[in-house]
Amino acid sequence: MTSHQPNENAKFPEGQSGFWKWLNHRTGIDDVLKTALYEPIPGGARFAYIFGSGLLFIFISQVITGVFLALYYVPSADHAHTTVAYITKAVTAGSFLRSLHAYGASAMVVVLFLHLSQTFIYGSYKGKREILWLSGCVLFALVLGMAFTGYLLPWDQRAYFATAVGTNAASEIPLVGESLKLLMRGGTEMGTLTISRFFVAHVFLIPAFIFALVGSHIFLFRKAGAAGPVDEDPIEPKQQPELFYPRQVLMDLALTALLIVFLGLLSFFVPMQIGPPANPADAQYVPRPEWYYLPIFQWLKYWHGSAAIVGVLMIPTVLVLAVVALPFFDRSAERRPWKRPIAMSSYIFLVVALLGLGLRSGYVDRHDPSVAQQLAKQKTEEDEYARKPFEPELSSLSLAAANVALADPAAAKGKAIFEAQSCNACHGDAGVGTAAAPALVGIKAKYSAEQVENLFKHPTAKMTAGGMPPIDLPPDDLKALITYVRSLN
Ligand code: HEC
Repeated sequence: MTSHQPNENAKFPEGQSGFWKWLNHRTGIDDVLKTALYEPIPGGARFAYIFGSGLLFIFISQVITGVFLALYYVPSADHAHTTVAYITKAVTAGSFLRSLHAYGASAMVVVLFLHLSQTFIYGSYKGKREILWLSGCVLFALVLGMAFTGYLLPWDQRAYFATAVGTNAASEIPLVGESLKLLMRGGTEMGTLTISRFFVAHVFLIPAFIFALVGSHIFLFRKAGAAGPVDEDPIEPKQQPELFYPRQVLMDLALTALLIVFLGLLSFFVPMQIGPPANPADAQYVPRPEWYYLPIFQWLKYWHGSAAIVGVLMIPTVLVLAVVALPFFDRSAERRPWKRPIAMSSYIFLVVALLGLGLRSGYVDRHDPSVAQQLAKQKTEEDEYARKPFEPELSSLSLAAANVALADPAAAKGKAIFEAQSCNACHGDAGVGTAAAPALVGIKAKYSAEQVENLFKHPTAKMTAGGMPPIDLPPDDLKALITYVRSLN
């Protein structure tokens, strides 16, 4: 391997143009880029270090796809599901975009786990990096918060019931649990206020904190310096450093490229579905969370009654505190995993436990016939709903008209004739009116049935001028059409 000495006098880029000189004079961009790209990495670039940049890339991708989704999304119990169905079924590339966002969330959790594992196994949290570790812990919690709040927003059956379970689990926490549930739901039941709260958290609050913390996290990382390989001194590195640019940048970009290809192919070939709209009255629905919440979901099943306080509160609190406080009590500078048996066995135990709980959850579901049957039924309903073309919401006006028309068989027949004769081409669906012709709603107050019949047979000059032909139909059909037209309210 060639040596990669840091060159303090390096200029970026080579061969400066007049424009670059001007820009640099105004902004100092040369120094910014130098600081960003010429970071020394003790022991040289490695693929083990790529996960942090990977997370940054996914976060940016989530922001961009999220902004496009927000162009269509309406956060209310009445419209959330319709607007997501519209994105999925009607908007050009909408399904692809939404899938990128939804799979991006899962990718985030996976890469976050890899980043955390690398930091832990390499002992990179050691050597004056306590606050860097703490900022990472907060980011971890924020990412899980993003996953939790985002899951509800489509307001389909799956989203509604998973969030009902999630918010109920929070209420198990002694003392504050009930208030916490009320705070999240915006009331005792889930509805528009819940969507609004989750939406605000998902789109404004948590992302703002993530932006701030990503900034601090990178700043603190640069301040402490890259920790390098496991046999390196975490405070005063001695191994030959290599600059971040170009080799480490390229390695980081390799992961980014892999993520783009993987998420792109997945979103294109296995797009994220949307299920039927949330129906809170459905008592049969068996809720299941997103895969990364399955271990917690399974864990909570084991703790009931008075034991709940141990399983729901004490054990998780101790675990979280142990992780958060890690760099404060693990003070040795030893970073080689094989010299840290307690740390490494704890890590392996935790990973195996999480995996075991997650797999157990799936196993239990498959081996309980009634649950398995209900889950299969839910999947079928979801597939069926996903295949149906997009159905727009009816306005209250046309809905009322359609209902009246359906109440009377003659009017129902008339409605069919109205559409078959293309009356709706000018007068609009359900006679609500268009630019070409006036609304027919309320015509009953204006004309008697005889007068309408007369108009149909002998159109006025204005009607003829507007392109409305005389209506020539068998007497029964004519009567049905008149009944329908006069039923429009
Ligand atoms: C090519 C466009 C067009 C089509 C198709 C059409 N109409 Fe009309 N219709 C008009 C216009 C224009 C008027 C006159 C508007 C005015 O008086 O200002 C009119 C007027 C009417 C009126 C009288 C409304 C009023 O308030 O005076 C009735 C009733 C009516 N249409 C029913 C029908 C029915 C039923 C059909 C289908 C068989 C039909 N129209 C098809 C354009 C159309």
